[in-house]
Amino acid sequence: MRVWNNKNGIYQIYPRSFYDSSGNGVGDIRGIIEKLDYIKGEVDSLGIDAIWLSPFFLSPMRDFGYDVADYRQVDPLFGTLADFDELIREAHAREIAVMIDFIPNHTSTEHPWFKQALADPSSDRRAYYVFRDAAPGGGPPNNWKSVFGGSAWEYDGESGQYYLHTFLPEQADLDWTNPVVQHEMAEVAHFWFRRGVDGLRIDAVRWLAKDPLFRDDTPRKTENETNEYETVEHDRSRGGENLEEYLSVLTSAARQYDDRLIIFEYHIDPRMPYEAQAVRMYNVSPQYAAPFNFDGIFVPFSARQLGETIKRYQLLVPKESRAFYCFSNHDEPRLASRVGERQARAMAVLQLTLPGTPVIYYGQELGMKNVVVPEELAQDPVKGAGNRDGERTPMQWSGERLAGFTTANQPWLPVAPDFEQYSVASEENDTHSSLSLYKTLLRLRKDEPALAPDALFSIDLITDALFAFTRTSDAGTLCIVINFSDAHVHYEFKRAGSCIVSAQGNTYEETSGEISIEPFDAIVFRVQQF
Ligand code: GLC
Repeated sequence: MRVWNNKNGIYQIYPRSFYDSSGNGVGDIRGIIEKLDYIKGEVDSLGIDAIWLSPFFLSPMRDFGYDVADYRQVDPLFGTLADFDELIREAHAREIAVMIDFIPNHTSTEHPWFKQALADPSSDRRAYYVFRDAAPGGGPPNNWKSVFGGSAWEYDGESGQYYLHTFLPEQADLDWTNPVVQHEMAEVAHFWFRRGVDGLRIDAVRWLAKDPLFRDDTPRKTENETNEYETVEHDRSRGGENLEEYLSVLTSAARQYDDRLIIFEYHIDPRMPYEAQAVRMYNVSPQYAAPFNFDGIFVPFSARQLGETIKRYQLLVPKESRAFYCFSNHDEPRLASRVGERQARAMAVLQLTLPGTPVIYYGQELGMKNVVVPEELAQDPVKGAGNRDGERTPMQWSGERLAGFTTANQPWLPVAPDFEQYSVASEENDTHSSLSLYKTLLRLRKDEPALAPDALFSIDLITDALFAFTRTSDAGTLCIVINFSDAHVHYEFKRAGSCIVSAQGNTYEETSGEISIEPFDAIVFRVQQF
């Protein structure tokens, strides 16, 4: 993880929505190149030194690129391989590392492998996927559910067999028990590493390993479950015992190069022991791979609950690795919509002062909120409660037409109605904006040895309202105090010092004793050296 050692953050770019350079309403790779200076390169940049791109590979876009038809090609919608190579060059010139999405669990049904598997059931390609006969009494082979609704099995009338799809029927699961599949996917990883990619974000990790006997998932004893996927325990359809072995196929590829990093999209199953699951992911290859930590998304906005989970997590992170705290992404409602605007500012202080590496979703720094997308403009194949369009709307660059995202008549998803207020251009000139807060915190992370990813972390206090911790290096100590309540709360500083950041822009007297922290404020306090 050498190149990653001092990375002060990873910025997730959803290419469709970042910047449209071609004027067709959809963001593209050249658009990302044009905006690299916003991320890092100029004096006033965010100063984030790694980006992660959601998929840009050839795809029929049923799941917006998470259905890959060719792992080695750029979809024409986003540009060309030459554009991607230029992105790598331009990013590296600014010392920005580039991480790409890697989707090993399934391919698009448009992938030539799958097409051949269907066309010729006796071909080797058939064994790339999971085809099974109907259950003895007819119907799907077992009760496994698709994350996106309905059975996880799709009937193929030609052969009379079913194929497995953990997500859409157009996303057929690969069979990782097949060594040829493992080899193919390792080759894909090499293809991108050789092009200079610095890391992979591995999609949908939990489903790679399934029960080899294809036994039913255990029905769950909950009533009135509206989400069909949640009517069963996923004890057989995911998290199988060969998971580490399959993941190590990818980490072994990474190890053949200098300074590559792999991050697993592994959601901790709340019904299983938390520690064991995270440790399991870290153990795959502690120096080269780590899971995301999604506590900032799934744990409620509460001092006690967040404080306790972070405390527990930090204890299990191996010495040679670190935490990757992800507080929002393209699958979950935006941070400011989830917790509230002021609360999101407090969360920014938390995320950017914790040890490890923060993962920031494009627009999070602006305080962008979910957009209500009218049904006739909806794009996500997931309908209803789990719909993800709201968090995928165009980046808000300026107060100009369509937030300066595109010159097309219409972007692929609508622009937020409040874009004039929450845009890069307006927030850049406002010292109290969310963008200014992120820039201040990111700069502090860079300049303060106490905020280096591996600097000491020690919990000071967890109460119903407050979460307080210290970060320490040889150069000094910072104390971070976060008030999760909407009331003033007293906090007793044990040592003298001064407040250098306040999430809500409040000022606090130089103090050595008790201070009253404003509602939802989060402060960074420089402790005086003796
Ligand atoms: C992951 C992605 C999500 C996608 C799914 C299927 O969870 O983050 O966007 O729909 O996998 O690939």
